[in-house]
Amino acid sequence: MTANVKTKMSVLLAYALAGLGGCGSDTGPGDVVMGGGLNPAKDYHSFANTDQFRIAHADLDLDVDFVKRRLAGSVTLRVERTVGAATEMILDTRDLEVSNVSLHIPEREVVNLKYRLGNTDKVLGTPLHIHVPILGGNSGEPLIIKVDYRTGKVASGLQWLDPSQTAGKRDPFLFSQSQAHHARSWIPLQDSPQIRFTYTAHVRTPRGLSAVMSAENDPYADRDGDYKFRMPQPIPSYLMAIAVGDIAFKPLGERTGIYAEPSVLDAAAREFEDTEAMLLQGEALYGPYRWDRYDLLILPPSFPFGGMENPRLSFITPMAIAGDKSGVSLIAHELAHSWSGNLVTNATWRDLWLNEGFTTFFQNRIMEAVYGVRRRDMEKALGYQGLQKELATLPPERQVLAIDLSKLDPDAGFSDVPYQKGELFLDFLEQKFGRERLDEFLNSYFSEFSFRSVTTEQFLEYLNENLLEKYPDVVNADKIEEWIYKPGLPDDAWIPHSAAFERVDEQLNSWLEGSVSARGLKTNEWSAHEWRHFLKNLPEKLDVVQLQELDGAFGFTNIGNKYILKDWLVVSIRNQYRPAYERLEWYLMTIGRMKYIAPLYKELIKTDEGLELAKQVFEAAQPGYHPLTTAAINRLFVQQDKT
Ligand code: BES
Ligand code: ZN
Repeated sequence: MTANVKTKMSVLLAYALAGLGGCGSDTGPGDVVMGGGLNPAKDYHSFANTDQFRIAHADLDLDVDFVKRRLAGSVTLRVERTVGAATEMILDTRDLEVSNVSLHIPEREVVNLKYRLGNTDKVLGTPLHIHVPILGGNSGEPLIIKVDYRTGKVASGLQWLDPSQTAGKRDPFLFSQSQAHHARSWIPLQDSPQIRFTYTAHVRTPRGLSAVMSAENDPYADRDGDYKFRMPQPIPSYLMAIAVGDIAFKPLGERTGIYAEPSVLDAAAREFEDTEAMLLQGEALYGPYRWDRYDLLILPPSFPFGGMENPRLSFITPMAIAGDKSGVSLIAHELAHSWSGNLVTNATWRDLWLNEGFTTFFQNRIMEAVYGVRRRDMEKALGYQGLQKELATLPPERQVLAIDLSKLDPDAGFSDVPYQKGELFLDFLEQKFGRERLDEFLNSYFSEFSFRSVTTEQFLEYLNENLLEKYPDVVNADKIEEWIYKPGLPDDAWIPHSAAFERVDEQLNSWLEGSVSARGLKTNEWSAHEWRHFLKNLPEKLDVVQLQELDGAFGFTNIGNKYILKDWLVVSIRNQYRPAYERLEWYLMTIGRMKYIAPLYKELIKTDEGLELAKQVFEAAQPGYHPLTTAAINRLFVQQDKT
C-alpha cells in the first residue's frame, strides 16, 4: 500500500507533466508543470525576477500627507543578486510616481541608476525595470538600492478617510490593506508571497496623530509626528501594513492589547478580552507564538475586510464589536494566521487555501478550546451552509482548492472555497487519522516550514511522507487528489452539524406551519448564531404580513448586531419589505466590509427597481468606500449588465 500511495502521489505531483510545452521560459529547472501549462512554483501576480534578485530588508522613509492624500519618500532595499550576471532588477509598482533610483555602496559615492517603468497591466500594475551594473570587487555584497517615490492619486492598497468617516469625527485616518497584491501601490518592491524580508521604517505624520505598523509598536510614543518602526521577523510583502489616526492603546493581557480610536477603545477591550486566552490556546495547539506581541487595531467601518492578519497587529473591522462577543471568531481567525499564513505562507495566490483553509480549521479549534463545542459546531455549520450556497453558483474551475488564477485578478477569485472547503479537507483528515495524529502532523508542518512559503504540491509531498505513508491504508492518494484538484465536495466529507440549530429548525417550522406565532417561539436563549441560522433558513418568499410579524416580535430592522442585520436585510430586499429600506441605505452608507455589503447589492440588482436603488445608493456611498470595495461592487454592476 505504501508503495501504491507513493506511485500515485508522484503521478499526482507530476500531474500532467504533459503540459510542459506550453510554459516556455516561465519554467525553471526542477519546476513541475501542471495541466494546461501551469507552473505551480511561479507567481503569476508579480513582475519581479525573484530568481535573479531577492529583497532581504526594506527601510521605509515616508511622509504621510493628508492634504494631498499621498505617501511620499523612499524605500531603501537591501537586495541579494542570486545570479552573478543579472543586471536588471524588476520591482512591482502600481500608480506610483518614481522620481529617482540610486545605488548606495559604503564609502563610495551614490550612483544614480537607470530605470524605466514598463507597460501597465490592469491587474498587475507597472513593472519598474532598474539597471543594476555589475560592480567590480565586492560582487558578493548585498546591493543597497534606494527608490524615491510617492503614491498616486488613488492607491489600491490605501484608504484615506475624512474625519467624518471616523468614530471621533475630528481627525483624518489612513490605513493600508496590502493582501493580495496591493503593497505595490504604496511601496515599490517584489510583491510576491515567496519573498520574505525584514523592515524598518521612519514615518512622519501631522503632529497629534499616531502611526502604527505591522512591526514593533510603541503604544506610548509621543504624538510628535515622528515614528520609527522595526520588524525583526521576515515577512512577505502582503503583510506590510500601516495606519495613522487618533489611535490610543489599552493592554488586554501580558502579550496582547488593543489599538483603537479613543471612543471605541473600552468597548473593544471588553469585546475582545479573551484574546490573551486565545493566544495561549493557539500555542498549546500548534507551538510557540513567534511574533512577540499580538495586538489588535480596530479600524473605521470602511475597512473592506473583517480582519487582516498583519503580523503583531491584526487589523479588525469595528463591526465585530457587537456587544455579545458573537464576532470574536474573527480574532481567533486572524490570530491563527500567525501560524498558518504568516509563519508558513502560501507560495502563490493559487495556494491561498493553505493560508485560509488551515486558518479556518485552526480558528475553530481555538473557538472550541475557549468557548466550547456547542459554539464551535454552530460556527462550523454556518460556514458549511455558506459554502454550499456558494458552490451552487460557482463554475467548476472555481470550486477547486488549488485554483488556477494565472489569468485572473486574485481579488476576483476570492470565495468560500479556500476557507470552508479547505477546512473540511482538514476535518476529513482529522476524522480519518484522529485528532492526535493530525495535530502532531500539523505541528511538524508548521515547524518544518516556518518563515518559508509553500506550494500546494510541496504541502502534498510533505503530507504524503509524514501522514499518509506513516499510517498506511487510511487514506489513498485518489482521495487527496479529489479534494485538492476536483470541484465540489467529496461524498465522504465530514459534514458539520449543530444540535442547537436543530432546535432552531423546530421553532422555525412550527412558525411556518402556523402552529405558533412569532412571539410565541422559544427564542429566549438564542445567541446571534441561532438568529443567523433562523434568518438564513427562512423560505425565499415571505409575505409582508409574515415579515411584519417577525419584525414586530424580534425588532430585526433596528437590531444593533450588524451580522444579524445583514441577514435580515437580505430577507427584506428579497421580499421588498419597505420598512427596512431606510436601515438598508444606512448600512450601505456606513459599512464598507465587502463580504457584508456585496450580498445586499447582489440581492438588490436582481430587480429593475432594486437596480435603480442600488445605483443611487452606490453613487452616494462610493466616496466613502475603499478602492477594493468600489471595485467589487462595480464588478457586480458589470455582471448585471451582461445578463
Ligand atoms: N487574509 C484574509 C483577508 C484577505 C484574504 C484579504 C485574501 C485579501 C485577500 C483574512 O484573514 C480573512 O480571511 N478575513 C476574513 C475573516 C473571516 C473569515 C473570519 C474576513 O475578512 O471576512
Ligand atoms: Zn484569513
